[in-house]
Amino acid sequence: MTEVTGKPVDRVDGKLKVTGKATYAAEYFPKNMVYGVLVLSTIPKGRIKNIDTRQAERVPGFAGIMSYKNSMSLHFPQSSDPGAGKFAEKDLLPMQNNRVYYDGQAIAVVMANTFEQAEYAASLVKVEYEVEKAAVGLHENIATKYKPASGLGGGKVQVSRGDADAALQTSEVKFEQTYTTPVYHHNAMEPHATVAEWKGDKLMVYDATQSVAGSKNLLASMLGILPDKVKVAALYIGGGFGSKGFSWPNTVLTAMAAKQVNRPVKLALARQQMFTTAGRRSETIQKIALGATSAGKLNAIKHDTTSESSFVDEFVEQAGVATSMIYSCPNVEVSHSLVRLNRGTPCPTRAPGEAVGTYGLEVAMDELAYQLKMDPVQLRLINYAETDEDKNKAFSSKNLKECYRRGADAIGWAQRNPQPRSMREGNYLVGYGMATATYPANRSASSAKAVLFADGRAEIMCATQDIGTGTYTIMTQAAADALGLPVEKIQVKLGDSDYPKGANSGGSQVTASVGPAIRAAAIGVVGKLKKMAVADNASPLHGYKEADIVVSDGRIHLKDNPDKGETYIQLLNRQGLQKVEAIAKTNVSTRQQAESSPAAKGTPEADAEEQSKTNPAVQEDEHTDRKPYTFHSFGAQFVKVLVDPVLNTVKVDKAVAVMDIGRVMNLKLAKNQIMGGMIFGIGMALMEGTAYDPNNGRVVTRDLAQYLVPVNADMPQLEVQFIDKPDPYISPIGARGIGEIGITGIVAAINNAIYHATGKRVRDLPVTLDKLI
Ligand code: MOS
Repeated sequence: MTEVTGKPVDRVDGKLKVTGKATYAAEYFPKNMVYGVLVLSTIPKGRIKNIDTRQAERVPGFAGIMSYKNSMSLHFPQSSDPGAGKFAEKDLLPMQNNRVYYDGQAIAVVMANTFEQAEYAASLVKVEYEVEKAAVGLHENIATKYKPASGLGGGKVQVSRGDADAALQTSEVKFEQTYTTPVYHHNAMEPHATVAEWKGDKLMVYDATQSVAGSKNLLASMLGILPDKVKVAALYIGGGFGSKGFSWPNTVLTAMAAKQVNRPVKLALARQQMFTTAGRRSETIQKIALGATSAGKLNAIKHDTTSESSFVDEFVEQAGVATSMIYSCPNVEVSHSLVRLNRGTPCPTRAPGEAVGTYGLEVAMDELAYQLKMDPVQLRLINYAETDEDKNKAFSSKNLKECYRRGADAIGWAQRNPQPRSMREGNYLVGYGMATATYPANRSASSAKAVLFADGRAEIMCATQDIGTGTYTIMTQAAADALGLPVEKIQVKLGDSDYPKGANSGGSQVTASVGPAIRAAAIGVVGKLKKMAVADNASPLHGYKEADIVVSDGRIHLKDNPDKGETYIQLLNRQGLQKVEAIAKTNVSTRQQAESSPAAKGTPEADAEEQSKTNPAVQEDEHTDRKPYTFHSFGAQFVKVLVDPVLNTVKVDKAVAVMDIGRVMNLKLAKNQIMGGMIFGIGMALMEGTAYDPNNGRVVTRDLAQYLVPVNADMPQLEVQFIDKPDPYISPIGARGIGEIGITGIVAAINNAIYHATGKRVRDLPVTLDKLI
């Protein structure tokens, strides 16, 4: 049987999705349910003096209102890690007092029998404020900037090696520029939504979340109840991109509201509400300085980022982190500062850090290449990092040179005349640009369960979730190969916090984290089958060595003589077993601090830890020596743009990505992920950007008519290629993550192509036509 991993298998949930049978969080209708609608603040800072609810209460169907005046008390959240439950605004637990820290903050939940009644009643709530002076703009408040101690997950954000300032002084060629990016919003198709129902002291929650396990722990910790009293389900999720990684006020408020009215409550955010209470990508100012020899060898890199955070939590947009290892350079200084503003807390957004950071650095590299009169690809090859010079370690696997070569071929780089504004096609100016893509290859501890039934079917269970990326499908493929079953015989069950804990869907880590756990659980089942068969007088495999036995096509048989064996159905039925099951935990992390501590007794993870001690797949995986390596994915982005010289409109005509992401699990889904990232990048480069009213800090572009995202008419010819070489150290499967790297590099590549086409360098995103005049 040939392996199904790597094959372009169709999405196993595709049919359910296109027929509307895949149920999203807002599509549950518990009996006696009421609809909740949020009332949002309309000032950027101050205090609520009074909430007048008399008119709202007279609306037919009115069921209740919750505000700081009558809401239950919350406990301070215990965790600051999305996988364990990270509340987005730890210093602003919702509706605990009358403070307002931003425009669009949730200040009341109005409940009624129908959605329309609730929405109407919410519109009648009258709020009086005492307004205070707010900090509303990043540039206006730059004097208040400070250096945060650490970034996401406690990571280092101030990095230096050598002496970048001194090296810059003595460099033959110097370059320095500032790049700015606006606020971007995730705009997942599915809005944040929660359905909460209390059954006695137990809480059932359907939530649009990138972490059912984290959401469960967080709710328990904030509500002050035991985790085993809470169950969170998210069977299908319509995109997250980071916005559903942290937990926002809407989720816990739904649970609080359901308790207050003693009825199930459904609360979905309106698109407009998602612009203030569900995160965003921080606005950034990046100052980049490069020093090089006249032959193009980098001698110094400085990358200083200032971004915005809120007054109620701290989030660092880690734009410079990749700069510390992307090129070979002896003197590097990476720094990050924050300015607190009266806005909600920013959060990870597809490739947090790298998406904006590779824009700044890779445009700067292009500018340096022009200054040196050198080909931009050549400049990158001269400064190619053979090792991770930040960590002083080898890369687990890196094939970036091949990415550059293949990408250049695919776009026709050799035909490019490097002179700006020198190439034309009909009326259009033609530009070619390129950039390096990179994103860390994260992996963290995960558990999974595999069950083989006597009818030859199998089920896999893991409390991770498919946020739309194809996790159900690739995990089915991984399980199929390990269990020796066709994909049709396997059902992967995810998105339920009662299953063994899997990774949160953040940091592109699910494939690398959950895949090995599922494989190990499946191998655990196979191990049990082998033992059973060799001990069974009636089995054709009786007395053979387990090491000589393999599985394929639903059969257990000798490796060298496939006819000698039997089907799983025969074996289990003869043994009188309904099922054989195994549970496994792979406690491997590519980051410090992310290995998990021992599980609590009686939980599925504790069982998984026990069984894993004798699971050969877990043992091999956990005993792989990863200390000498760092784990990163790389790629090359090449684009061709057409610019109308009269209207200054930019059309990306062709975009090529060549990605080195380890082994490709499913070619169709992998291409889909990279294309999605590239399309996100087209939006970042050319059209997206959230505008705030400078007077009152209110989001102006708060819907998809004002906030432009790319549509089909904006699409170029997209070409995605993979190196497809398994990473020998990340896991036995060899696949690294893929959800985020597609957006890295592309923004710079577009920008560089626009410069090549027009001779005009725009250092402020997005590159709208007014900036090209
Ligand atoms: Mo991702 S932006 O870490 O969900």
